[in-house]
Amino acid sequence: MTIHSIRKICCIGAGYVGGPTMAVIADRCPEIQVQVVDLNESRIAAWNDPDFSKLPVYEPGLDVVVSRARGRNLHFSTEVDAAIADADMVFISVNTPTKTKGLGAGQASDLRWVEACARQVAQCAQGHTIVVEKSTLPVRTAVAIKTILEAAHPQVADASSSTSFSVLSNPEFLAEGTAIDDLESPDRVLIGGADQEAIEALAAVYGHWVPGEKILRTNLWSSELSKLTANAFLAQRISSINSVAALCEVTGADVREVAKAIGTDSRIGSKFLQAGPGFGGSCFQKDILNLVYLSHHFGLPEVADYWQSVVSLNTWQQHRISRLVVQKLFGTVTGKRVTLLGFAFKADTNDTREAPAIRIARDLLEEGAQLAIYDPKVESEQIARDLNLPASSAPAAQAGPTRAALSGEGTWWPSNSVDEAVSGSDAVLILTEWNQFRELDWTTLASLMRQPAWVFDARAVVDPARVAEAGLMLWRVGDGDA
Ligand code: NAD
Ligand code: UDX
Repeated sequence: MTIHSIRKICCIGAGYVGGPTMAVIADRCPEIQVQVVDLNESRIAAWNDPDFSKLPVYEPGLDVVVSRARGRNLHFSTEVDAAIADADMVFISVNTPTKTKGLGAGQASDLRWVEACARQVAQCAQGHTIVVEKSTLPVRTAVAIKTILEAAHPQVADASSSTSFSVLSNPEFLAEGTAIDDLESPDRVLIGGADQEAIEALAAVYGHWVPGEKILRTNLWSSELSKLTANAFLAQRISSINSVAALCEVTGADVREVAKAIGTDSRIGSKFLQAGPGFGGSCFQKDILNLVYLSHHFGLPEVADYWQSVVSLNTWQQHRISRLVVQKLFGTVTGKRVTLLGFAFKADTNDTREAPAIRIARDLLEEGAQLAIYDPKVESEQIARDLNLPASSAPAAQAGPTRAALSGEGTWWPSNSVDEAVSGSDAVLILTEWNQFRELDWTTLASLMRQPAWVFDARAVVDPARVAEAGLMLWRVGDGDA
């Protein structure tokens, strides 16, 4: 078998996966030219910005990797057709969100962008092209991609055609916030396919920096299903620990002690046992719902119900937190100022997709709360889009509630610092585990708040003793003593 050596890669989709993944491939494979293309002109402009702090994705270490490769063998452009025509390997790394309408709405993945890419590749590719599914896709999507590619270039009917394709599945396992580490030292790289030459060509790309034993080869369907399953298993652990957190709160147990006690069992393991405000991010919910849809489709309703419960528990946890904030604040937050610390779905990212903060903030707005929101990386325009509500101007810290506020209309405004956000608040609700929230000076913050004041720590990052010393009341997720 001759291994087709890859010289030119095109990646369609310059998002959270396409951008960082291609930056690392370009960095580690200087002899491969990598073109990352996207329809979104402003995103591409941001990837090309001379100021590396303006890259469209915030990831620790990403700026350094991009600065080494960009302009050398890493290029960002909107010239999709030309990049496809030039490439011998095309990654499809476009968004696959949950469908919002039509057949499978609320569960199935919306494959319109993937299909558009397949058609564009079919139209523009030249010579033999290896098409790699990088997006997370339902099992058997590769059949659809192959069918589209082959319909454009029927090999049997048109023996003279010099265009041909191989389709591989190569799901991405990076987590946001640690994407560069995950890409540089992956637990494994998964390549699914039937064409051994194509598989080895892609394995050789990763082989530049990933040890051979970590490159797993499977059939296409196992690869596609493994990605959904990995996310489902990880999310299931979070729902499991969050269900136990609720039990801890009513029984006097502490979920961190329980997590440690069970996590030291090597069969269970200690990772992904951090109770919190429920999982967010663009992947977990979407991929489980996809699994639920597939299970129904293949006549397995019990399997579908099992995985659906992981998502339902997560939604319940988020509403549970907003409900208990209202209950602790004498049953009403109308006209009261509540500070939200953190809006991103986890620390070290500016991504807010499916962030627990969105559902919790909406619940509190619905109750008429006045929310001061501070996140070190999320822009206020993004928060306004997520809440579907424009920002109001911040009232003076010492001003009492206005008539409009007491009439029950929820409002929010962005804050530039924790101190500014907390001033005049009745409660602080911590929703993202940014490191800076671990070190807050609660005595100073308490003096800025309206008393009696609460700290609701949904990420368990504060030191309970320091909050108590400051004279603040504390609720901590999964803490039966708080
Ligand atoms: P994203 O929305 O950040 O990026 C997708 C990009 O594709 C967008 O910039 C969009 O403009 C572009 N695009 C869509 N259709 C296009 C087309 N026809 N031509 C050119 N560009 C097009 O999405 P993401 O977070 O990078 O996720 C991409 C895929 O990777 C999804 O399937 C997701 O499930 C999967 N995934 C995501 C993560 C993660 O942490 N975000 C991790 C693993 C896998
Ligand atoms: C996830 C998978 O981890 C990754 O392998 C896949 O490629 C994409 O989806 P991501 O969503 O970026 O990555 O971040 P992750 O670290 O998995 O966190 C997801 C959510 O779960 C976050 O909201 C996080 O705060 C939450 N979480 C995670 C917990 O609440 N507790 C934990 O113990 C771990």
